[in-house]
Amino acid sequence: MYPDPVLRNKTARVEKIDSSLDRLIDDMVATMHAAPGVGLAANQVGIPLQLAVIDISSRENEGQRHPLLVIINPELLSLEGAVAEEEGCLSIPDYAEKVKRAAKVKVRAQDRTGKPFEIEAEGLLAKALQHEIDHLNGLLFVDRLSPLKKNIFKRRYKKFAVEKE
Ligand code: NI
Repeated sequence: MYPDPVLRNKTARVEKIDSSLDRLIDDMVATMHAAPGVGLAANQVGIPLQLAVIDISSRENEGQRHPLLVIINPELLSLEGAVAEEEGCLSIPDYAEKVKRAAKVKVRAQDRTGKPFEIEAEGLLAKALQHEIDHLNGLLFVDRLSPLKKNIFKRRYKKFAVEKE
C-alpha cells in the first residue's frame, strides 16, 4: 500500500522460473480477482520481481474477452498515440484520476513457462500494461499527474489516511 517504499524501488529480473514462482503467480491472480482489480504487480504484494498479472475480462463484452495475462521481465517495445483516461490502483484505495498514456503499445515479455512472447494492445489492455510496467519500475499512476493534481492528491490522501486511523 502507498506509501510503502517497496512500491518505489525498481524490481529485479526474474531469473528462475520454478514452482515457487508458479505459486506466487497463482496467489497474485487470486489477490487481483478478490480485490477486485484488473492488474497486480509483484511489488504490490511485497515481492520486488519483474512480474505482473493482468485480467481485464470482467470489463469486456462476451464477444471480445482477453485471456489472463502473466508478464515476466516485460519491456515496452513501442508506444503510439495518446489518451487520457481515469485510472486507479489497488495500492492507492479510493483515489482515481485521469492519466495521460500511450493509446497503443507493443510489449515483449516471458509467459509463466518462461517462453518469450510479444503483444500489441490498445484500449484498457494498453493502459493496464503501462500501469503494471510502471509499478515494476517503481512508478505509480499519481507520478504521472500534473504538478497541481499531484499536490491535490498528496493533500487529499494524507487527510484520508488520517481520517481512516
Ligand atoms: Ni496499480
